[in-house]
Amino acid sequence: AAEKVYRASTTAPVNIAVVKYWGKRDPKLNLPTNSSLSVTLSQADLRTLTTASCSASYSAAEGDSLILNGEPSDVAGARTQACFRELRTRRAALEAADPSLPKLSTMPVHLVSENNFPTAAGLASSAAGFAALVRAIANLYELPASPSELSKIARQGSGSACRSLFGGYVAWRMGSEADGSDSLADQVAEAAHWPDMRALVLVVSAAKKGVSSTSGMQQTVATSGLFQERISKVVPQNMDLMEKAIKERDFPAFAEVTMRDSNSFHATCADTYPPIFYMNDVSKAAIRAVEAINAAAGRTVAAYTFDAGPNAVIYYLEKDTEAVVGTIHNVLGDIDGWKPAAIEGLKSTVSLD
Ligand code: PMV
Repeated sequence: AAEKVYRASTTAPVNIAVVKYWGKRDPKLNLPTNSSLSVTLSQADLRTLTTASCSASYSAAEGDSLILNGEPSDVAGARTQACFRELRTRRAALEAADPSLPKLSTMPVHLVSENNFPTAAGLASSAAGFAALVRAIANLYELPASPSELSKIARQGSGSACRSLFGGYVAWRMGSEADGSDSLADQVAEAAHWPDMRALVLVVSAAKKGVSSTSGMQQTVATSGLFQERISKVVPQNMDLMEKAIKERDFPAFAEVTMRDSNSFHATCADTYPPIFYMNDVSKAAIRAVEAINAAAGRTVAAYTFDAGPNAVIYYLEKDTEAVVGTIHNVLGDIDGWKPAAIEGLKSTVSLD
């Protein structure tokens, strides 16, 4: 008789930090040097869809596998292996407690994963990718795990992935335990708490593959003097101010902390030896455009932030769409270096999931 194939699918969203994770105190477990906070983007615009399956009929010799956007992809990396190991251990415990359960933990897992945005867009897809991988296998294994529990597993795949287990406004608490048991994500507020928040993703076409976040963090921790100031003073204060701004739906406060924290993160990168530059001249033009928009409005209506690359994400409120998106379109539409599609397809809202 043909062996049964067990299957589960899930989607996970992209998140963009407004207080950045930058620095590992334990690179093996992906334990951070500071807490961070992000906004989860709409899955209608940016998400990973992952199906996990397992079967006794799958070749044990071939083992676990991943097809990412139609291409066979590596699962041998230490981070991916850590996720598989954690999930299998939990499933094996369920099977040991209830011998009537099928022994899924002993079967190879096949993953098929797809982004609904081009990987070439230069957006960090690892957060959505690892969050979807972990939840798909957790569903397949019918693990009784909360999103915060799963966030600890996803964190070992990619730090920022732990925040993609929740929608809305999400904090990753750095924790203090050496085993990572208290380094997890929790929801600060649902998307519905501040439903008129919007994010605009501006993609710089000249984006070359720069310094990976892992080696950028390593270099920053090892060589930046400014970094100590950031993790001991700047970030703790930004976390407090940001949580307050979100609770009070105070956009000017939210925006100022977002921009200051992005600036602080990129300053520590420039302070490494040799320096790392993630923003380019086009990124800097976006910063000036946001400043001009805020000056013209006479209040803060837009906030920029940049991850480990030149692409800009701009947060604003729905009521200011014309002032923000219209102006960005006019100002940057003429500048070489923006992908036309990013200007054409100006969109993306905050998720309600
Ligand atoms: O999760 P990683 O290892 O790709 O690192 C992400 C780092 C930043 O995107 C720059 C900041 C953040 O908090 O997401």
